[in-house]
Amino acid sequence: MITGSANRDEEHFPSGEPLDITRQNARTHMSFGYGIHYCLGFQLAKMEAQELVAQLSERFPSLRLAPGFEAEYLRNITFRVPTSVMVEWDQV
Ligand code: HEM
Repeated sequence: MITGSANRDEEHFPSGEPLDITRQNARTHMSFGYGIHYCLGFQLAKMEAQELVAQLSERFPSLRLAPGFEAEYLRNITFRVPTSVMVEWDQV
């Protein structure tokens, strides 16, 4: 299964390319797999991600993508993994 593609399937997620955690069917993504091999660590992974976003937004409230940044992705057949993410923030 090509998870990165399934999560952007325009037939399932209209305008599937942008990250939009508020879309109505956002919870129907395939990132943790499906069925009997569904990820055993998904709750931990979600807690870790929540903490990461909370910490980043608290410590770097102006954090944003660097102007002109365009992601390049690792070549694989499962997940879409950016090779780097260039960011900037305002000094305080
Ligand atoms: C963002 C983080 C994570 C993602 C995207 C992810 C994704 C996945 C996916 C797609 C599968 C299914 C693989 C398949 O069907 O062959 C899977 C399985 C699994 N994951 Fe995760 N995972 C994450 C984090 C974790 C963590 C933190 C743990 C444990 C602490 C974990 C433990 C497992 C285990 C044990 C399985 C095998 C379940 C089985 O085969 O019955 N994962 N994961």
